[in-house]
Amino acid sequence: MGKKVLVTAALPYANGSIHLGHLLEAIQTDVYVRARKLAGDDCIFIWADDTHGTPIELRARREGIAPEQLIERAYAEHVRDFTDFQIGFDVFHTTHSEETRRHAHAIFAAMTERGDISSKAVQQLYCPVDAMFLPDRFVKGACPKCKSPEQYGDSCEVCGTTYAPTELGGPHCSICGSTPELRSSEHLFVPLARHEAFLRGWLAAPEQGGPTELQPTVRNYVMEWVDGGLRDWDISRDPPYFGFEIPGWPGKYFYVWFDAPIGYIGATEKFLAERGGDVAAYWRDPERERAEIVHVIGKDIVYFHCLFWPAMLHAAGYSTPSRVHVHGWLTVAGEKMSKTRGTFILARTWLDHLAADELRYYFASKLGATQEDIDLSLDDFVLRCTADLVKKAANLASRCCKFLTSRQQGVIEALPAEAAAIVESAARRVGEATTLYRAFESAKAVRLAMQVAEDFNLYVTEQAPWKLGPADAARARAICSAGIYATMVIAQILAPVLPRWAERVARMLRLPKPFDLRKPVEPLPAGHVIGEYETLAEPVDAAKVAAIVEASKETTPARQTPVAYDVAALAAETGLDDFAKVDLRVAKVVACASVQGADKLLQLTLDLGPLGQRTVFSGIAKSYAPEQLIGKHVVLYANLKPRKMRFGVSEGMILAAGAEDDAVTVLELDPRSRPGERVS
Ligand code: 2FM
Ligand code: ZN
Repeated sequence: MGKKVLVTAALPYANGSIHLGHLLEAIQTDVYVRARKLAGDDCIFIWADDTHGTPIELRARREGIAPEQLIERAYAEHVRDFTDFQIGFDVFHTTHSEETRRHAHAIFAAMTERGDISSKAVQQLYCPVDAMFLPDRFVKGACPKCKSPEQYGDSCEVCGTTYAPTELGGPHCSICGSTPELRSSEHLFVPLARHEAFLRGWLAAPEQGGPTELQPTVRNYVMEWVDGGLRDWDISRDPPYFGFEIPGWPGKYFYVWFDAPIGYIGATEKFLAERGGDVAAYWRDPERERAEIVHVIGKDIVYFHCLFWPAMLHAAGYSTPSRVHVHGWLTVAGEKMSKTRGTFILARTWLDHLAADELRYYFASKLGATQEDIDLSLDDFVLRCTADLVKKAANLASRCCKFLTSRQQGVIEALPAEAAAIVESAARRVGEATTLYRAFESAKAVRLAMQVAEDFNLYVTEQAPWKLGPADAARARAICSAGIYATMVIAQILAPVLPRWAERVARMLRLPKPFDLRKPVEPLPAGHVIGEYETLAEPVDAAKVAAIVEASKETTPARQTPVAYDVAALAAETGLDDFAKVDLRVAKVVACASVQGADKLLQLTLDLGPLGQRTVFSGIAKSYAPEQLIGKHVVLYANLKPRKMRFGVSEGMILAAGAEDDAVTVLELDPRSRPGERVS
């Protein structure tokens, strides 16, 4: 037995649903792992949810739940989606686990010990309303180069320039819209330049004795980053942050990209705790004598997996990856997935209409070893699946199987001599496909299966066994037995992609054991009796594909927040027409201040989401201190005529109960309500 093999796919974030982009990677990884297992390798697929970071913290707040609840919900959904797509992971864990925390602490301690952690104060944008430092993606403003408005704090989507959020023109907080201020905070850094020599060695090409399998283009561009100078990497974040607090640094949290890949180790530990085995064999084997580590990732996270991650592992004395395989993006109908076009397709939406098998086949039939983007063209999908799976592979199986069972009691005959050449090439293709799968060349591998189907379909058609009379029954059986042999070879080659297909073929042919890829299958012995044909594939219904697109279109108006009454219905029922004219809206209090010279009044700045901001003066100062209202979702009577007051213009009123000045209570909405939404 060779080395152990540990394979991972990128860990999906717990704040979103699984979509076809995730599935492209999941299917590529799954096919690779299954092929290696079937070839006899001791291979495990280690996976988890990536659960930390600001977006998860904020989303949980918005939903009024704890982040732990949010990640638990995502976990259940993700496991279900991947399982229904037959992704055969050996473990699906979470980065919010004791295992991951322990390894994060150990790696951090080892790095600190070696002087691989430094600290310094950094100036960052801080939103006083949300009381938080703003991650780059939470600040928007004008690009410093091309001046395009509403660009994120890290890079401009129009001109591609990258910059610091402090360089944006007119920066504003993307949560509340207010202007952030600069504040200083102490951060922890990994001085990556200390690991330049190691990284150059890790990245070296095979001809220079490099230890890592990387695609040449990936190797080259990572090397360019190294040549461009390695900068210190900031691994700490300030609260609010859902993550692990850094030992010895109260109030500081590990940046999600520090502990996310450590989640690979945490998940390995979880798996081995259940199955038995030593985590050190995988992760404490710096010379890689006992195990290979293979990461499958998308183009966007190469930086993390080919610079930070190996440097961290090396610094802490852990094993570094033996191979990082990078795939391209998924496009749908030639374009980036889009919610308005209905091409941002969730895993669940797909399964509501179509089976997983066809998508597995289609992706596998397009994926190769390069980082070229993969396009899911929906018409091509329908044609390809029908042409290959139905008309070639299933048709061969169905013709031969049905002929034998209906006319020859299912009895197999020795293969005819004239089929020797195609039989031999079919057997050779099994070995070739196995090698191709190991190189992530699944498109070429499944193509070999289709070539086997083509060869044998042609052969069977030419020999026309159904035209032979009773005197030639043995020959007719032999011809169809050749088709049955090809059906086995096809199932064998397709087994990593279509495990259910392979199972069905094994069952219907009454084989003693399931298919594997250790060596080419042998033809069935003469006299073996096969069972009835089981449907292997059916034409893909184009209407179902259209229904998936329709169901994925985001045209539904913003969700309404139900309050106690439906104003319009109430108006109709009661005849209170005027009531129906009242425009009530969800408003988030983003700022609130007392008004000089008016001790009953508070000045509120209200965010109405897409409707912009309003200023409202409200006589509630005796009941509320300004800071009590900040962040609350209230009801704004929005279509009142603006009222000029001594202190400014009031653009509406907020709803409150109580007549006494000092006993007013403001009507508060569920924090999940969206600013600007109609209250009805
Ligand atoms: O880009 C992403 O979706 C990340 N959640 C991937 C993490 S991979 C690993 F490092 F955890
Ligand atoms: Zn803000």
